[in-house]
Amino acid sequence: MDNPPHETLDCNSTNVSLQLSLATESDLHRFTVCQFDAFYNGPDHDFLEIIFPGPPTDENIVKVYKRQLALREQHGLSTVLKVEDTKTGAIVAGAQWSISSGVDDNARHLKHQLANVDWCGEEGSDRQKYAQWVMDEFLGRRIERMQGPHASLDLCFCHPSYQRRGAGTQLVRWGCRRADELGIPAFVEATATGTRLYEQNGFIVTEAVRLHDSKRWGKDRTPVVYNFMWRPPKPQIARPDI
Ligand SMILES: CC(C)(COP(=O)(O)OP(=O)(O)OC[C@H]1O[C@@H](n2cnc3c(N)ncnc32)[C@H](O)[C@@H]1OP(=O)(O)O)[C@@H](O)C(=O)NCCC(=O)NCCS
Repeated sequence: MDNPPHETLDCNSTNVSLQLSLATESDLHRFTVCQFDAFYNGPDHDFLEIIFPGPPTDENIVKVYKRQLALREQHGLSTVLKVEDTKTGAIVAGAQWSISSGVDDNARHLKHQLANVDWCGEEGSDRQKYAQWVMDEFLGRRIERMQGPHASLDLCFCHPSYQRRGAGTQLVRWGCRRADELGIPAFVEATATGTRLYEQNGFIVTEAVRLHDSKRWGKDRTPVVYNFMWRPPKPQIARPDI
């Protein structure tokens, strides 16, 4: 498949109209380009190099969106959202929510969490072993804590030129509304920038995670840090029997 050339997004206008909708498969290349622009312009490079290894070349972008697509297809519980600039049609922000509303759903979701990190570094290399350790720690926390029906915000980003215009809020609220309708808790692993946005939408930091083991991986590795966040379920109002 030929991918379109990368768009350079630059938004100087103060009067921008942003529209939230479901992303389709044909959006995924542009979605992932925006994802790389958002994350690689932020401060959290060490974890990024493991979950979506850069640099943001077309080859790396395609690898990432194919891996994300394959994972989604395996458990079938995820919804991908995009936010477009209605004037230009450019994708400027995006998110993925996974809603695991039943007991079976949850087992299906958790089963696909365990990752074999074969996408990062050469087979048997130190880089790959380190990435595997980080992912095991990261996913281990998920599996332990995201028990029972829940919603999880797996991915959330906004292009730097479009930040602070409410796109992130729209993406977060979409899943919070569904979680509230179902009376289930929500989770997110937040970067420092994301934490404030999630707090404004009812999430609470339950652990400031710092993944670091200098004895095993050497002193020079920068710790992987993020906040594990939880949003309590909204109590359901019992409907009177008629
Ligand atoms: C975190 C992130 C997704 C937020 O996206 P965003 O679209 O800027 O989010 P919002 O615009 O909804 O909210 C951000 C701020 O803008 C403010 N804001 C929202 N609409 C606004 C508007 N129309 N005018 C001015 N400010 C506005 C919000 O109140 C919020 O302010 P605060 O941080 O002072 O509390 C984005 O910064 C990002 O992609 N960062 C890099 C990747 C990343 O870390 N993602 C999170 C992974 S967990």
